[in-house]
Amino acid sequence: MLNESSRLSINNSNPRRSSGSLNRRASDKLKVNKKPVEEKGTNIQVVLRCRGRNEHEIAANSPVILEAKRRRDAVLRNTGKDKEYSFDRVFGPESTQEEVYKEVAQPILDEVLMGYNCTIFAYGQTGTGKTYTMEGELEERNGRLTPRAGIIPRAIYKLFETLDTEHAEYSVKVSLIELYNEELRDLLNNDDSRTLRIFEDQSGSGVIVQGMEESIISTAAEALAIMQEGSKNRIIASTKCNEKSSRSHCIFTLTVHIKEIIPGGEEVLKVGKLNLVDLAGSENINRSGAEHARAREAGMINQSLLTLGRVINHLVDHSQHVPYRESKLTRLLKDSLGGRTKTCLIATVSVAKMNQEEIISTLDYAKRAKNIRNRPEANQRMYPKILLREYEQTIERLKADLQASREQKGVYLSQQTYNMITDENQSSKDRVVELSRDVEGLRDTLRDKTKELDEKSDLLFGKESELAQVQANLKTLDKKLGDDIEQLTERMGQVNKKHHN
Ligand SMILES: Nc1ncnc2c1ncn2[C@@H]1O[C@H](COP(=O)(O)OP(=O)(O)O)[C@@H](O)[C@H]1O
Ligand SMILES: [Mg+2]
Repeated sequence: MLNESSRLSINNSNPRRSSGSLNRRASDKLKVNKKPVEEKGTNIQVVLRCRGRNEHEIAANSPVILEAKRRRDAVLRNTGKDKEYSFDRVFGPESTQEEVYKEVAQPILDEVLMGYNCTIFAYGQTGTGKTYTMEGELEERNGRLTPRAGIIPRAIYKLFETLDTEHAEYSVKVSLIELYNEELRDLLNNDDSRTLRIFEDQSGSGVIVQGMEESIISTAAEALAIMQEGSKNRIIASTKCNEKSSRSHCIFTLTVHIKEIIPGGEEVLKVGKLNLVDLAGSENINRSGAEHARAREAGMINQSLLTLGRVINHLVDHSQHVPYRESKLTRLLKDSLGGRTKTCLIATVSVAKMNQEEIISTLDYAKRAKNIRNRPEANQRMYPKILLREYEQTIERLKADLQASREQKGVYLSQQTYNMITDENQSSKDRVVELSRDVEGLRDTLRDKTKELDEKSDLLFGKESELAQVQANLKTLDKKLGDDIEQLTERMGQVNKKHHN
């Protein structure tokens, strides 16, 4: 491995992180050693990976309906009739992470090292192994990847291994962004206040993601650590918001610049880019690539996944207008679909009958995607000084950002204003003490008054019961008096009667 100082100077003189772009091809790059365009184009590569039945599917006694046959075929046993599907490669449930990497990703990484932009998409129902295939286990054990490591960690390790064995002078950058609900989030920068914006490169050849961090890395272990951190950010966000991980897209991008000496002895830079895309779960999208009615009803429209399906349909039908602009995903990855990038789609499926609808839907989607033709073209070589100029521009932009954020968030005061504010502050504190004392005094008065009120209330209560007693006595006397009058009147009546007789 080369020591730091022999690397391209960009690795040492620049901040570790910088703002950057995705699929960018600056118009001012010089045309050196350019490879001829592959006139006919090539179909995008489509592979199928079947996940064996999980505990849940076994417990539900859901039988296996999809089998990998030979290297390129899959047989769907569907209500008595068998249906065959062919892809560039079919991986059965027993396939290992290493096999998938070696057969699918390694040849693509070789293209990246030759100066191509390449993209691998993982498409499929939630729980079928998209993240397992792309990331798998990111942790190292005894300084080595584990057998469950997926394409991203393996590609990172292999990249550095190759560059170091070839004694290349290079620089490697990585970025990791998440797209959820048409909003982009930088997983390498957990600052929620930063919004990422995408806009078309002025040369019209790609898009720029403004505000995205690209971490410059010098070892595989460093890249892996960054990846683990980013992956954790995705998980934290998904536990905060139910279903988020199944409905978000994750785009990992690795950019490599390699120094090359062209005939004549001049130094140029070869640029290659690898996008590894873990798509949202395909369960809300039906066989024709449109959204399911029930998904629409539930308001679970995944604009990006929907547009991806529509873009595929338009490309396959050779439509004049392809709706790339209708979603952020297709804007970001336009070049990977019918463009100049080498593209591979890994469709992941369950093999259990209980997922029949999604299995058929994924198989049909993958089959249709196979008809897309791209025209891969190697990136133009760059002169190092142009790259340096780009980096200088980045530094300038970051400085301006820093200045701006200072102006927005920092408070700068003259000594006089500071003294004034400090005095005001002290005076306010003193006033608080004074007022607290007043409050204490008022509290004492209140206490006395409350006591007095209680005593008066007691007295009043005593008088009230006395009054009630007197009233009761009065009533008794009143009644007695009434009775006496009645008796008296009766007796007088009798006396008068006797007199008459
Ligand atoms: N090919 C496979 N072999 C072994 N385990 C797998 C395979 N594919 C997926 N899994 C396991 O299945 C579960 C779901 O996979 P995951 O990659 O999270 O699915 P997705 O990202 O498509 O929603 C995980 O526990 C994962 O480890
Ligand atoms: Mg996943």
